[in-house]
Amino acid sequence: MPHINGSHHVTLSVGDAQEDVDFHVGVLGMRFIKKTVLFDGGLPIYHLYYSNAAGDPSSVITTFPWKQAGLVGRRGTNQARENLLSVPAGSLDYWTKRLNSFGVETKDVDALGTRRLAFDHPSGINYQFVEVENDPRVGWTEGGVGGEHAIHGIYGVGIHVQNPENMVEFLDQSFYAGRLREEGERVQLAVGSPEIGNAVELVVNRTEEPGTWRYGSGTFHHFAWNMDNLENQAEVKFDLEGIGYTDASDLKDRTYFKSNYMRTPGGALFELAVTHDEGGWTCDESPEELGTQFMLPPHWEGKRDEIMAKLDPVTIPTNPTDATRDTTL
Ligand SMILES: [Fe+2]
Repeated sequence: MPHINGSHHVTLSVGDAQEDVDFHVGVLGMRFIKKTVLFDGGLPIYHLYYSNAAGDPSSVITTFPWKQAGLVGRRGTNQARENLLSVPAGSLDYWTKRLNSFGVETKDVDALGTRRLAFDHPSGINYQFVEVENDPRVGWTEGGVGGEHAIHGIYGVGIHVQNPENMVEFLDQSFYAGRLREEGERVQLAVGSPEIGNAVELVVNRTEEPGTWRYGSGTFHHFAWNMDNLENQAEVKFDLEGIGYTDASDLKDRTYFKSNYMRTPGGALFELAVTHDEGGWTCDESPEELGTQFMLPPHWEGKRDEIMAKLDPVTIPTNPTDATRDTTL
């Protein structure tokens, strides 16, 4: 039976590369695991990867920093909008202090009956921390944030829709979702299994214009689901096509995983991803050296010097002051 094994990764279009690194590594304490480039198109743009301790599926945030190319997106409806991340139960007060100490404004929000912490990426993308009891995914503790607070991984994705019905129908009938919960303008479904890192939340938004789908700073680009293996990925795509969702892309080799992409009725771009047989993140760097090299796809390796000359260097924070800060909060 075709199935979805939770989420795989989240990909965002952000602004400045160094600002993005400083935010995810320096402020959120995530692990920097890969520096490469956007594989599509002809413009060299960084592709930066961040994760929890293990870098396992459902724990990875990736970004394309578009500031150098001057591309700015527009947030709106019919678009993924919220990056929902799982943090340990009882950690929100710590995160409020930590984020505020770095000048990041926070807001307590109530969603589906529980308190969450909302804040924005420097490019404007909405983040929410959701407390999860007994999340087995292990946070990265060498970045200045202790294990009792460190980010477990993805909780899910919030998608703004003008009208939720078509997306609920798609998720419920064609995308292995269930457990619908609803409160006010927010509807949550859980996609596939296991029951962790797999929430899709539809936020009814009838006041804003549709947001952009192309690349551009300040917008979500896509949300990837873990297909486990290529056979299952092909079956999921085949079944979606049989229902009428025939716009899934061809299979693209991203070095670390292989993926199809499809636009959903809610406007969000979904990716059907399979971690590469030959080791995923560690296929070209050892576990100890993840993120220390600049990795290029084979078709661009011959232009390495030219590409490096076009991209501003980024420095990965080592966090000595953050570690001190952590113990004083
Ligand atoms: Fe992706």
